[in-house]
Amino acid sequence: MPFLTHPTTPFDDQKPGTSGLRKKTPVFMQPRYLENYVQATFDGIGGVAGKVLIVGGDGRFFNDTAIQVILRMAAANGAARCIVGQGGILSTPAASNLIRKRGADGGLILSASHNPGGPNADFGLKFNGANGGPASEAVTSKIHARSLEIDSYKIADSADLDLSQLGESDLDGMAVEIVDPVTDYATLMEALFDFDAIRALFAGGFRVSFDAMHAVTGPYAREILERRLGAPEGSVQNGVPLPDFGGGHPDPNPIWAKDLMARMYGDDTPDFGAASDGDGDRNMIVGPNCYVSPSDSLALLADLAHLAPGYKDGIAGIARSMPTSAAADLVAKAKGVEVFVTPTGWKFFGTLLDAGRATICGEESAGTGSNHVREKDGLWAVLLWLNILAATGKSVPALMQDHWAKYGRNYYSRHDYEAIDSDAAHGLMDHLRGQLDGLAGQELAGLQVASADEFAYDDPVDGSRATAQGIRIHFADGGRVVFRLSGTGTQGATLRVYLERLETDPARFDQDVQQALAPVIAAAQEVAQIAQRSGRDAPDVIT
Ligand code: G1P
Ligand code: ZN
Repeated sequence: MPFLTHPTTPFDDQKPGTSGLRKKTPVFMQPRYLENYVQATFDGIGGVAGKVLIVGGDGRFFNDTAIQVILRMAAANGAARCIVGQGGILSTPAASNLIRKRGADGGLILSASHNPGGPNADFGLKFNGANGGPASEAVTSKIHARSLEIDSYKIADSADLDLSQLGESDLDGMAVEIVDPVTDYATLMEALFDFDAIRALFAGGFRVSFDAMHAVTGPYAREILERRLGAPEGSVQNGVPLPDFGGGHPDPNPIWAKDLMARMYGDDTPDFGAASDGDGDRNMIVGPNCYVSPSDSLALLADLAHLAPGYKDGIAGIARSMPTSAAADLVAKAKGVEVFVTPTGWKFFGTLLDAGRATICGEESAGTGSNHVREKDGLWAVLLWLNILAATGKSVPALMQDHWAKYGRNYYSRHDYEAIDSDAAHGLMDHLRGQLDGLAGQELAGLQVASADEFAYDDPVDGSRATAQGIRIHFADGGRVVFRLSGTGTQGATLRVYLERLETDPARFDQDVQQALAPVIAAAQEVAQIAQRSGRDAPDVIT
């Protein structure tokens, strides 16, 4: 009698419509909590009997323990096989690739992405479907509904498996296959990019500095950049994944990757700097004294992707999240390809990628990717940049200058007000909603409003509709501000204010970003009463 059925109680912790569950680690470690969510997930996807699942995570605290529970529960629920990254490690893009490559029915990815890890930090778990991408809203709604009524879970009564040994074993009738987490992913990258050209670039003395932030991309970056491409040892920093990410915040932006920023600004900098987040799907790109905003990076990569072998025939279309800058739209227009403006969150790109309508996708939050997997992919972006640098022989700042000269510069910044009172945050959004109808034609801090609305999206492929996806105000001078509440925070509410302004005068491409955006920032303050309602006189994080 190896399988046990435990009684349990319903819970209402997953926000409907969000993929997966993200909570403080101690919440996940409560008795039956993880088990409840795993059973709700299995039930919500129609059971796992006879199915093949990929399992792995970013190595944060509780990763290994949670994987043992998931494996015992998968066995008890009749799964045929679980394919697990060695040591419980799989980056999110590598998990997406494995799901697709192995024809699995889906995967369970353990991560809280860029949020800190540790006994008192954050943990998360999400389900990706057979296309390798985050579960659709239809599926996450079923998982959520099931979590509200769940009364028992099934688990095998068996000992922990040794996750460090490659190979296959049996767990109460279910096959468990432990695979190297890096090999298949590295092979995919070799198929997309000109490794010979990048190798020659490094051999010629081009210096790269990749900060893995003690998160999951360490082993991937070491294998690909240092071993396969020959960058000198030490090109990858903080390359050993740690359960608490070394106490840091594994979020690749100028605030949290400040050591890398310091290395890249000044004299004698490396030629190229990059970082990735906890689970390896985000990226930061920085050249010598030249930080590249994620929106600009998306536009440039889309413009020059054809220089890499995997995209030599050109791209079918570009997709970007609504708060991402319009820089990518200008590229799409010049190329005569479709551009899709989607709600925030990678899952909205899935249908477009599956249908072959979009090839390159991106978000302002440091996520860029393509149709090679169904997640954003940090190292992929780094390798595409390196391929472009090798093919053009130009520097990062020179490429950016060329890009702006061709398309104009979309000055862009995001201001985050973190962990503010939830009622105050919703009050602010309601206050904005209440003004939408009368805003067009009015002046806000001297800027004339051209239009104002709340973004809703009709998926052009499956027809599904997503509403209330952010409030946007366009100004007559081409500027824009967007307000939205974060769906991933684990404390209170986080207000995100996205600011943008297109500059077409080359004499004005060297402004300080915040200064260039000052009129839009003032208009945002005025219309949303941010200081008054949030109780903060400045954002917590500016990216
Ligand atoms: C944030 C980002 C969003 C990204 C998501 C998952 O979500 O803004 O672009 O898709 O993390 O990485 P948010 O907290 O804004 O809901
Ligand atoms: Zn992530």
